Formats: sequence, C-alpha cells, structure tokens
Amino acid sequence: MIPFYIETYGCQMNVSDSEVVARLLSDNGYQPCNRPEEAGVILVNTCSVRDSAEKRVIARLDQFARMKRKDPSLKVAVLGCMATRLKEELLAHPAVDWVVGPDSYRLLPGLLDASQAAPLQVKLSKTETYADIKPYRCLTPGITAFVTIMRGCDNMCAYCIVPYVRGRERSRDPLSIEEEIRDLVAAGYREVTLLGQNVNSYLWKPEDGSTPVNFAMLLDRVAGISPLLRVRYTTSHPKDMQDDVLHTMAAHPNICNHIHLPVQSGSNDILKKMNRGYTREQYLERIASIRRILPGCGISTDIIAGFCSETEEDHLQTLSLMEAVRFDQAFMFRYSQRPNTLAARHYRDDVPEAEKIARLNRIIDLQNRLSLESNRADVRKVFEVLVEGVSKRSDEDFFGRTQTNKVCVFPRGNSTVGDYVRIKVKSCSAATLKGEIINKTNRI
Ligand code: 5AD
Ligand code: SF4
Repeated sequence: MIPFYIETYGCQMNVSDSEVVARLLSDNGYQPCNRPEEAGVILVNTCSVRDSAEKRVIARLDQFARMKRKDPSLKVAVLGCMATRLKEELLAHPAVDWVVGPDSYRLLPGLLDASQAAPLQVKLSKTETYADIKPYRCLTPGITAFVTIMRGCDNMCAYCIVPYVRGRERSRDPLSIEEEIRDLVAAGYREVTLLGQNVNSYLWKPEDGSTPVNFAMLLDRVAGISPLLRVRYTTSHPKDMQDDVLHTMAAHPNICNHIHLPVQSGSNDILKKMNRGYTREQYLERIASIRRILPGCGISTDIIAGFCSETEEDHLQTLSLMEAVRFDQAFMFRYSQRPNTLAARHYRDDVPEAEKIARLNRIIDLQNRLSLESNRADVRKVFEVLVEGVSKRSDEDFFGRTQTNKVCVFPRGNSTVGDYVRIKVKSCSAATLKGEIINKTNRI
C-alpha cells in the first residue's frame, strides 16, 4: 500500500471532491496518511476563485518541490480548479507530476501507477457526477458530512471563474444521493450538508419520463430519511430561490433554519454589471419571504468589495443593504480579477487596491457589529445544538452549532459527541455563543 496525502483548498465542494479522490485511491492500492512527509504521493486539491487562493497553492508547491529534491521518488498531483485553469503551466512547475481537473478523478489510479501516460487530464464533462462513488470520509469523520448533489455552474456571474474551471451544471441522481445519506445515517452521522454551486437549479429528469425532481422535492426526500438527521444545504442563488424551498424547510424540523444567500453587492448598477439576475429590491423581497415563512431563520451572505467601476455611492448601498437585512454572518472579499471571466474581458478593474481594502474593512466592521448584535439577541434563549467535538480553547468544553449555524461552546456535562442538547445561551462574542446544557434530548 502506497501512502497518499491530500491537501484541500477552497470551498466545501473541494472537501467533498477530496473524499471522492480518497475513495478512488484507497480502492486501488493506496492508503491515506496525515502528513506530507509520510506520503509517496501528495495530491493538492486547488481553488482558483481569487488570486490569493492560487498564490497560497503555488507557495505550497514550491515547498513540495524542495521535498522532492531530497526524495525524488515523491510524486505530486495537482487537482481541482487551478488544474483546469493553468494546465501546462502547472505541469511545468518542478513539483508537479500530474495535473488532473475536477471531472477526471476516475483516471487518477491509472495515472498514478503509470499505466496511463498523459500527465495532463483536464477535460470537463457534461455528465460526470461521481454518483456511484462512496466518498471516503477521511476529512469529515463521524458526525457531519458533505454530500455533493450537483456539479458545475451555468450562471456566468461576471467576476466568477467557476463556470470555466468546473464546467456545465449537472445534477446527480436523487436515488444515489438518498442511498449515500442512508449509509451515513447507518454509520452514525447526524448532519449532512447538500452541496451545489446553485442548489436552487437542481433538476433531475428521470429517463423513464416520470416527474422531474427539483430541489424542494429532493430536500423533502432527504429530510424524510431520518428524523435524527439534520439537513443543511448551500449555496442558494437569490434569482432562483423560490418559496417552495422555504415551505419545505418550514415543514421539516430537521432541516436547519439557516440560509446562505450571497448578495455580492447592494447596488443595482453593480448587480447588473455582475450579471447576478436580481435587483436590490428583489433580494430584499426574498429576505422578507424568508422572515415570513421561517421566523428566526439564520441568514448569511457573501459580499465583494470594489468590483469594476464601483463608486463610493455603490459601496454605501452595500452597507445600507447589510443594515436592512441584518445578516447573522458574512464572508467578505475584495474583488480579484480572474482571467477570461466576463468582467476581465469587458470591464476595467479600476478600483484602486487601497480603496478596495478600505471598503472591505468598512464592510467587515459593520458585519462584526451586526454579528455581535445578532448573537446578543440570542443570550438567555435556548437552542438545539448538535455536539460536534471538543472546543479548541478548552478540553472541558464541547462545541456544536445551532440550527441557525452559530457556533456554540459549552461545558461537556454528561453529553457526548453526536448528542442533541438544549443549550441556554449565557454570553457571546461576535463569533461564538457560550452556553450551558439544559438537557440532552437526542431528538430534533
Ligand atoms: N473576487 C472576489 N471574490 C470572489 N468570489 C467569487 N469570485 C470572486 C472574485 N473574482 C466570492 C463570491 C462568491 C464566493 C464563493 O467567493 O462572493 O460567492
Ligand atoms: Fe470551490 Fe470555486 Fe474555489 Fe473551485 S474556485 S474550489 S468551486 S470556491
């Protein structure tokens, strides 16, 4: 058995892909190890979403190149989004033996044992979903797992590299999704997160011509698998998120009361340039629907500062939208131009870097205040928390998340990992709730 080490950058989708790769390799004479120094093969699963993500990977490859000089038998494969984007350029890096894109992972065992020669495999597929491959849960052991329900993206947001590096959108057979989740429940898992770039456009058309399955129907079926299984999903798209999904969430107590709904900007001019397909008013209308149908629902978002031509006025619109929605959490970025995207081809990246940083800092400061206010409003309330593991800060505490996706830390009491507990919140910071167990329920 040859030891392999897999390092993952970027989004949850990549974590899920790494587990597919781990299965393919462990079924073919390789075994996972925890440190690159122990490995015969290192796999780096990469992200292209921002330039900074790519730079981190290149720095890591430089380190692996130094390791290879000491041990020439060491092999390195680059997987993921950078593989598709950079192709031969990556292959020319002194560390790199293979470059394998997101739709070519089935070729990996053959490539690694040298039975297949071509070291560059980056063709994208219109159909590959790895539906039949049971991920090896080496990165998400025990309690909470990711389940990919679709791949690729057809949206063409102007700033985004994903459609170019991950290809066309395709949905996975719901039967294979349900089977995978039933296996997870049988293995003791208590939470799944369904993954897709735009889950609202999930659509499975059965070959026998029977009724197509949309996302609300899939969610309903997954929630019905076990009342003990929490269900999360990401990412929703404001232009496609319909009330049917909200009603399905309301009907199932085990679908977590949380929605990640990236807004990107609060300015209509910028949203139009970004090709997002909705206005500020339409976004706020979606938020109003969430609040009406799912009271208390956690709402998080993604925001980009300094997109092409963004003015101070546009930026203020983003801040005012944040205030209007009062997001519980946000992932905030400064715009990073990606080669060949719509924006790179049609617009100038004309907001100076210092201005991007200043705007991003204002966005972060505001969100810190909103997150703190949101958490303060939870103090003295009681929430159901799934115990996920030992707190990083103290061995005596556990951590878990509320349905609304807030991290909660509390003394262990007599609970164990995988329990459902009711927690009374005693205090908070902008990032964490602190509480105490009221009782173990072990039901949702
Ligand atoms: N620059 C900055 N942020 C980006 N994102 C996607 N592309 C870019 C880019 N070129 C952000 C978006 C998206 C999240 C996953 O990453 O906010 O929702
Ligand atoms: Fe995930 Fe996008 Fe990064 Fe690819 S580019 S790993 S899809 S975040």
